[in-house]
Amino acid sequence: MTETKFTLPESAIPERWYNIQADMPNAPQPVLHPGTGQPVGPDDLAPLFPMELILQEVSQDAEIPIPDPIRDVYRLWRPTPLYRAHRLEAELGTRSHIYYKYEGVSPAGSHKPNTAVAQAYYVKQDGRTRVSTETGAGQWGSALALASCLFGLECKVYMVKISYEQKPYRRSMMETWGAEVVPSPSEDTQAGRSVRAEHPDSPGSLGIAISEAVEDAAGREDTAYSLGSVLNHVLTHQTVIGQEALAQMEQAGEFPDLVVGCVGGGSNFAGLSFPFLREKIAGKEIDVLACEPAACPTLTRGPFAYDFGDTGQLTPLVPMHTLGHDFVPAPIHAGGLRYHGVAPLISQLVLDGLIRAEAYTQSDVFASAVRFARSEGIIPAPEAAHAVHGVVQAAAAADEAGEQRAILFNLSGHGHFDLGAYDAYLAGKLEDVALADEEIERALEAIEALPKPAAGVS
Ligand SMILES: Cc1ncc(COP(=O)(O)O)c(C=O)c1O
Repeated sequence: MTETKFTLPESAIPERWYNIQADMPNAPQPVLHPGTGQPVGPDDLAPLFPMELILQEVSQDAEIPIPDPIRDVYRLWRPTPLYRAHRLEAELGTRSHIYYKYEGVSPAGSHKPNTAVAQAYYVKQDGRTRVSTETGAGQWGSALALASCLFGLECKVYMVKISYEQKPYRRSMMETWGAEVVPSPSEDTQAGRSVRAEHPDSPGSLGIAISEAVEDAAGREDTAYSLGSVLNHVLTHQTVIGQEALAQMEQAGEFPDLVVGCVGGGSNFAGLSFPFLREKIAGKEIDVLACEPAACPTLTRGPFAYDFGDTGQLTPLVPMHTLGHDFVPAPIHAGGLRYHGVAPLISQLVLDGLIRAEAYTQSDVFASAVRFARSEGIIPAPEAAHAVHGVVQAAAAADEAGEQRAILFNLSGHGHFDLGAYDAYLAGKLEDVALADEEIERALEAIEALPKPAAGVS
């Protein structure tokens, strides 16, 4: 048997982030100001974000140096291990070789601190003392609470209500790191109050929580808004994952035929896949698969359109695959995948045929997650379990076609705070949600009057 774990020394922590904008065949279309319909400029974004992050957002440089104080924090858990899933392969009886990059070893339990640490650093450099954000599953809020604590910032987290109720210990974790956490929709903002007035039982959504956090930051000079996914700079920060994985796959003596990740806003998927897409754009043959929930099928059923990033229409208009900004996904357990849109960089790459997408129901996803836990030991976060399921299907398809593939996926986090979801699955109580076409059509009415993107290319 070959090695199970491929590890790297701290000196191999990447010194630069990879910015895929430099290499994309078609650049993403501009983000628009909803009032004027014109591209937003740095000045429009300055009230919310530190200038360094705004510059990263529009940078065309392929590589962006990582400041030493950020790399110093990364040392707490990076480089993360890459595993060969020998036992899962045996459990599946597949001829394919399966590898996974495990981001659950960070203190917060997911890939999210890779950008949280960077964002907290730049907020501090910018002279602000406080950050506001939203969180779905609680993973992002935990990551930003941790990073804020390490850089001495105050942190306010609007946590989607359904997750706040399902995962009380995620809140405890954030509070332990010093953050203030409220369930969203909350009474603390106009956006939250108006949703509560109209839908008193709203389970909340990422779209609503984003409105609250943006409103909070826009109203205070000491506060920056921090987003855990979707934006270009966030995806760029996550590319430390894929850069390490490239080196680790070389140690393993293989190059992946297939790279897989789950997609909520797109950050862990981008983090693993962009450095491999760099190779694909340069001519290598690699299949790149994005896995999403059938209850929130943004890439597989949402059109490519301009839409708001949030329900309250406070953000600029973003060119992306979307289900409409007031689409409230069913309360599936993968809270971090309940977002109506997906990152513009990923949307454009899907449009250009460099990435393909599949959607799965949660009972199939949990069946694969349990097979993974019973063979490899690690209990995946429900979000990451979508990637596990994608891999299980892909390995079966390869076997059926008589092929042996090298498959690499991102195990973006552990599920230690998601055991209620596993309980429900094991008790046979997990509900699958069939999303009717009419429901999607209804939600998309909200974007009918918005500007339309050019037909896929710019
Ligand atoms: C473990 C984990 N994986 C994936 C996601 C989805 O986010 P993204 O698509 O930005 O990676 C989340 C979001 O909270 C998460 O917690």
